[in-house]
Amino acid sequence: MQQSKQWWKESVVYQIYPRSFNDSNGDGIGDLQGIIEKLDYLKKLGVDVIWLSPVYKSPNDDNGYDISDYQNIMDEFGTMKDWDQLLAEAHKRGLKIIMDLVVNHSSDEHKWFVESRKSKDNPYRDYYIWRPGKEDGSEPNNWESAFSGSTWEYDETTEEYYLHIFSKKQPDLNWENPTVRQEVYDMMRWWLDKGVDGFRMDVINFISKTPGLPDADNPEGKKYVNGGEHFMNGPRIHEFLHEMYVEAIKDYDVMTVGEMPGVGPKEAVDYTKEENEEVNMVFQFEHVDLDSGPGGKWDLRPLNLADLRENLVKWQKALEKQGWNSLYMNNHDQPRMVSRFGHDGKYREESAKMLATLLHMMRGTPYIYQGEELGMTNVAFESIDEYKDIETLNMYNEKREEGLSNEELLKKIHIKGRDNARTPVQWDDSDHAGFTTGTPWIKVNPNYREINAKQALEDSESIFYYYQNLINLRHNHDVVVYGSFDVLMEDDEDVFAYKRELADETLLVYCNFYDGKPRVEIPAEFREGDRSLFISNYKVDRDEVQSNEFLLKPYEVRVYHVKK
Ligand code: NOJ
Repeated sequence: MQQSKQWWKESVVYQIYPRSFNDSNGDGIGDLQGIIEKLDYLKKLGVDVIWLSPVYKSPNDDNGYDISDYQNIMDEFGTMKDWDQLLAEAHKRGLKIIMDLVVNHSSDEHKWFVESRKSKDNPYRDYYIWRPGKEDGSEPNNWESAFSGSTWEYDETTEEYYLHIFSKKQPDLNWENPTVRQEVYDMMRWWLDKGVDGFRMDVINFISKTPGLPDADNPEGKKYVNGGEHFMNGPRIHEFLHEMYVEAIKDYDVMTVGEMPGVGPKEAVDYTKEENEEVNMVFQFEHVDLDSGPGGKWDLRPLNLADLRENLVKWQKALEKQGWNSLYMNNHDQPRMVSRFGHDGKYREESAKMLATLLHMMRGTPYIYQGEELGMTNVAFESIDEYKDIETLNMYNEKREEGLSNEELLKKIHIKGRDNARTPVQWDDSDHAGFTTGTPWIKVNPNYREINAKQALEDSESIFYYYQNLINLRHNHDVVVYGSFDVLMEDDEDVFAYKRELADETLLVYCNFYDGKPRVEIPAEFREGDRSLFISNYKVDRDEVQSNEFLLKPYEVRVYHVKK
């Protein structure tokens, strides 16, 4: 089936993590007025859609991914009036806003949970997942929380355990309860009626659990193990997502992207193909798990180009005819793209541009994470006391108890910790990178004096303007959005190459992934056509554009446009 044209396929999304974006009132925490101040900056960059990480009321156990009131704004971020102003100002500039929908779980401070835990016969009891312990009093099953320890917390009042896949302040909602589902759909419609342009749905493929919540396989006899087999892509997930579409989404012209750890291309097609009416696209995790060993995210493993290419190509092909890809290399949960996949020293600018091109020329909707357009890098704080992220801190404490050294753990955190992405956006070279006039809630990356938006805006060769160019190309060339995808030079050890084709137009994309000088040959079938340079991160002489063989410079990327 030929895919339909959609505005969300033609868009570029920019993710804002509000806490770290821009602080307007000097309390050290980013806020909604701070975002409003930067809308012109985003407009200049050229993005179409802003994805706002959660801005709802929250005790901030997990920086807003623990929501205590879905219809109110977090005090530190401002008021609903500020939010209304933000939406109006964004829309005035032609920018759309999608909200983060976090409904696998709420905060334990949400009124539903406050009621639920009061008694077994409370009307809200069944909004959450309560179970008695096993016969010996231990947890109802062996699932491990994403933030370390058990997924179960014992509650003395009613002498039962409740389920929390994330922190104990993030109890899982019971999606088997139809009233819960209706509450969620009502809330979604309320935001849609206010004018939001869609939702990014947090771990949305976790909402259906295996009935009976059985123990997960545990061949090594560990205390707790990943229970994903019983809550990822569970038995009723398609039913729930389709119901959500029918009840909340279908009457609005909006976009949806489901965050889905543990999803493969086959499932992704089922979630995103149009006739299934579930979500428009998913965030898959396979390519950001390639540098993790069997022990999970903190089990470090080097990344190689062959694995990355194989994976990305697999996704491109699987969703070429049906469904739709989201394209991302970093977000608020992942290390910085240039540090992880590129070279954040000597070739920072070149490799940031190369990676951006690799991603933006693929088929799918690209996502830019705040600061990515400046080539912001990972941070390496020297002491664990500088870190704020609950996942990082829980892991650190648990592994210290198991005997790992401070040095070993800091090394892991420097490479994989979520705070790499959460240091404040570097706006200029003044104190705290111009993020705040107060004391930032988390320290600024010390490299802000060299890497910041002010410098980037003054330099026509900057990464910022390179992104602007990439976005323009997408907006002006259908081949970038709707062209077919095929890999080139499939076995090359240094170059990630592919082509996109639509009618008589072809794009040839050559990305040098390393600092060597690999050779590239233009395939015979494209040598005769009318060839021009679409975009590149080094200057290429006019004569060289026409040569059929050339060497790429370190981290060089070239995209050729060929017309038959
Ligand atoms: C995924 C979010 O992106 C992450 O930041 C959060 O901690 C978990 N879901 C739990 O909501």
